[in-house]
Amino acid sequence: MPKTQINNSCQIKRPGDPCAIVLFGASGDLTSKKLMPALYSLFTNNYLPSSFYIIGCARTVHTDDSFRDRVRASLENISLNKEGKIDEFLGRIYYIQIKYDDPASYADLAERIKSLDKEKSIPENRLFYLAVPPNLYNNISNMLGSSGLSVEGVEKNNWTRIVVEKPFGRDLETAMILDASLKQSFKEDQIYRIDHYLAKETVQNILFFRFANTIFEPLWNSRYIEYVDILAAEKIGIEKRAGYYEQAGIIRDMFQNHMMQLLSLIAMEPPSKFNSEVIRDEKAKLFNSLRPFDLKDKKNELVLAQYNEGVIDGEKVCSYRNEEGVNPSSLIPTYASFKMYVDNQRWEGVPFFLRAGKRLDQKMTRIIVQFKKLKHSIFNNVICGDLNANRLTFYIQPVEKITLSFETKNPGSSFCAGTQKMEFVPDGKGQHLEAYEKVILDCLNGEQLLFLRQDAEELCWSYFTGFLKECATCFDSQKNLKFYEAGTAFYTVN
Ligand code: BG6
Repeated sequence: MPKTQINNSCQIKRPGDPCAIVLFGASGDLTSKKLMPALYSLFTNNYLPSSFYIIGCARTVHTDDSFRDRVRASLENISLNKEGKIDEFLGRIYYIQIKYDDPASYADLAERIKSLDKEKSIPENRLFYLAVPPNLYNNISNMLGSSGLSVEGVEKNNWTRIVVEKPFGRDLETAMILDASLKQSFKEDQIYRIDHYLAKETVQNILFFRFANTIFEPLWNSRYIEYVDILAAEKIGIEKRAGYYEQAGIIRDMFQNHMMQLLSLIAMEPPSKFNSEVIRDEKAKLFNSLRPFDLKDKKNELVLAQYNEGVIDGEKVCSYRNEEGVNPSSLIPTYASFKMYVDNQRWEGVPFFLRAGKRLDQKMTRIIVQFKKLKHSIFNNVICGDLNANRLTFYIQPVEKITLSFETKNPGSSFCAGTQKMEFVPDGKGQHLEAYEKVILDCLNGEQLLFLRQDAEELCWSYFTGFLKECATCFDSQKNLKFYEAGTAFYTVN
C-alpha cells in the first residue's frame, strides 16, 4: 500500500525578501490582539525573512521604547514569550506618531524608512498594513502615494504592498469610490484585501477536497445535491463595536464577505490550475451567476432579526438595543437567513441556505452539502425506518473536521438501516498557522490567493446593494425585523 509522503515543498514557505512592515493603527486593538501576536509567532518559528523591521504608526504619543512596552504587554498577555525571543523581536520594532492627513508625517515616515533600510541593509520592500477605521484608508493611501512610498522599484524587483481590512465600502458605489482612491497610488496587484475566513484551514481544504479527489466532483451538481447550507453562528455580541455595527449590520459584517467566500469555494467551477488569478477568475464567474435576490418573493425565506436579552452559558446578556452605543430603537439586524440560487448548469434549482447571527447558543461555522435521497430504494418493502440521504459536512470552527454520512445495515436478523459517519479530523501534526499568520505570510510572499480581487468584490456588493436598499425601506415599518432571545438555537433548521 502506498505510504503518505510529506513532501518538503509542503513546508511553510519563508519569505526571502528582507522588508519593512509598517502598521498603521498601531495603538489599536487589531494590532495588539491579532497582528503583533501573529508577527511574533511567525518570528519565533523562523517564518519571517531573516532581515525585517516593523514600524508602528498611530496618533497616540509613543517613543520606540514605550511602544515596545505596549507590544510586550500584549504578547505576555497571551503567553507567547517563547524561548525568550521577545526582546529580539521587540528590538526590531519602532514607532512614529502620525497625523493621518498631514504630509509632514509621511515625510517623517519616509525618512525613517530610508534610514532604517540603510542601517539594516534592507532593499526597498515595503508592506503597509492599514489596521485603521475605513474612513482613513483614503487619506493614508493618497499620502503614501504623494510621499513616493507607494512606488515599486521595478528594475530591482522591489515591491510595495498595501493590506486593507474590510469593510471595503458599504455598497457598490462606495466600494468603487474606495477602489478608485486606492488605485491613485497602488496597482491592483499591490492591493491585498483581507478576508480572514479564507485563511481558515478547513476553508482552504474545501478546494483540496473538491479538486484533489476523483470521487466527489462527479457528484457535485444538481443531479445529486439537494441543497447546500452555510451557517456561521456566533455566541458573541457586538463587543463594544456599536459605532461600526450600527452602520454595518449582519449583511455587511458577515454576508457580503465571509459567507460569499464560503459559497464561492463550494460552488465555483473547477479552475484549470492552482493559481491565484485563475481561482479568483472562477470566483468572479460564480458571483456573476448568482440569481438576483427578489425580496418580494417569499420563497427566498428571508429572515432578518435582532437579539433581545437572554442567557448564554448561564450568564445574562443584554439586548442589542441595550448594548453601549446602540440606538435604543435600532433596526439593525444581527441575524439573517435566506435562500439563494446559482443560475448555471451545475446548480440549476439547488437552493443555497445562508445563515449567520450573533448571540446564538454556540459558536459554529459549518457547511452542509446535502445529497439527494435515492430515487428508488430496493429496501422499501423490507427495511425498518427510513434511509437517510448522504451528507457531507465541512466543520470550520471551533472544531475543524470533515464528515461524510452513509447508510449501512445494522447488525441483526432484520433489515434496519443505520447512518454511519466517516470523519477526517486534522491530527494537528502539520505546521499550523493562525489565520492572521497565514495572511501576513502570504502578503510577504506576494501570494494573492487568499485575498479578494476588486471585480469579485464589486459583484458581491452588487448582489447585496439592492438587497440592502430594499431592506432599509422594509425596516421603516419594522414589520420585517424579527426579534430573538439571545442564546437561542433557532438557526438549526436542518
Ligand atoms: C468579523 C466580523 O469579520 O468576523 C465580526 O466583523 C465577526 O463581527 C467575526 O465576529 C467572526 O470571525 P470568526 O473568525 O470569529 O468567525
